[in-house]
Formats: sequence, C-alpha cells, structure tokens
Amino acid sequence: MSSSETNPIARSVSSTQSEMTEIILPNDANTLGNLLGGRLMHFIDLTGAMAAYRHARSHVVTAAMDHIDFIQPVHVGDLLILKSSVNRAFNTSLEVGVKVWVEHPQTGVLLHVASAYLVFVAIDDRGRRQRIPALLPETPNEIRRFADALRRREHREAEAARRKQERREHSCNDTSPAAQ
Ligand SMILES: CC(C)(COP(=O)(O)OP(=O)(O)OC[C@H]1O[C@@H](n2cnc3c(N)ncnc32)[C@H](O)[C@@H]1OP(=O)(O)O)[C@@H](O)C(=O)NCCC(=O)NCCS
Repeated sequence: MSSSETNPIARSVSSTQSEMTEIILPNDANTLGNLLGGRLMHFIDLTGAMAAYRHARSHVVTAAMDHIDFIQPVHVGDLLILKSSVNRAFNTSLEVGVKVWVEHPQTGVLLHVASAYLVFVAIDDRGRRQRIPALLPETPNEIRRFADALRRREHREAEAARRKQERREHSCNDTSPAAQ
C-alpha cells in the first residue's frame, strides 16, 4: 500500500453523488433497437467511477461489479439516467451504488431499469493501492446503505474464497469454454 496515507478527512455521501444522462443511439443497441446489456454495464461502470473518484480524489480501478438484473428494456431515442454515490469506504476500497432509470422522451415517464453495486480500489500515481478517507453517513437511508455495504463485503469475501477453493479442486488443464 502507498505510504501516502495523508487523506484522513472524512467525506459526506452527498459530496460523492454523481449523475449521467445519455441519449440512446443506434450504435448502443442490438438488432431489436434495445440498449445492449454490455453498453448499460459500461455506463454503470463510468457513473460508479465518478462517485469513487470524488471520494478518493485519486485514480480508481473497478475491482468488482455485483449481480445486475435488467428490469426494463431501453430503446433507441430514450434517455438513460444514472445516479451514483458511495455507500461505504473501507481501507483502500469503497462500495458505490448505481441506480438507472429510463426516461421516455415524449411522456417524461421514468422507469427503473437496473441497480448495481460496484467496488473500486484507489490507486496512486505509481500504481500502488492507496488508503482512502472514511465516509460519514448522515441520513437514515445513508446509514442503512452503510450497514448493508459491510454485509455485502462479507458476502463477496466468502464467495471469493469459495471460488478460489473451486478453482483449486478443478483441473487447470480443462480448456472448455465454461467460466469455471
Ligand atoms: C483490484 C486490485 C487493485 C486489487 O489488488 P490486490 O492486490 O488483489 O488487493 P488486495 O487483495 O490486497 O485487496 C485490496 C482491496 O481491494 C479489495 N478487493 C480486492 N479484490 C476485490 C474483489 N474482487 N471484490 C471486492 N473487493 C476487492 C479488498 O477487499 C481490499 O479492500 P480494503 O483495502 O478496502 O480492505 C487488482 O486486483 C487489480 O488491479 N485488478 C484489475 C483492476 C482493473 O483493471 N479493473 C478494470 C477491469 S477491466
């Protein structure tokens, strides 16, 4: 870890809040004119990184993105609205929540498209992991998300240990295209 542990000032959740609006163009869509899942994940990653960047005030890399359900299709011409904020800061990593809506351009109706949690790790100019400031949750919702983020971190760690064990048990000579 970086020796530059000179970033002790705790930050508020509101100071990390970020938002991005995109108009969906044909290049973002599949053959049905619906937004591609991978493109949506790219927008989620970018919006999440903005909140992480505002908190860490250093480079950040994506370490993990949790499970995502695609609840609503998004069509060419729709407006996609993404909002993010930091839920909890740990040592060098932090969890960001991103929520996505689609705005129908003619009616202005907003529908929930997806939500995701991402973990980013702060990196200094020399590529070393860097300690980040604490996050101070203030509102009841921020306090609830702060507590939930710790539970999700414990769950991620347990899952990572389980996958590591599985990799150890399965042959590394297996070249079939499945993920494990
Ligand atoms: C993410 C990365 C920096 C972690 O480095 P590492 O040496 O494995 O770090 P450690 O295992 O010591 O963990 C460092 C921190 O990251 C967290 N972390 C590491 N891997 C994680 C994962 N898969 N999910 C969630 N958190 C993770 C740890 O919990 C730890 O957090 P803390 O410091 O707040 O306690 C490294 O794996 C990396 O560079 N990955 C590629 C990142 C990238 O290129 N992203 C773009 C993807 S295309």
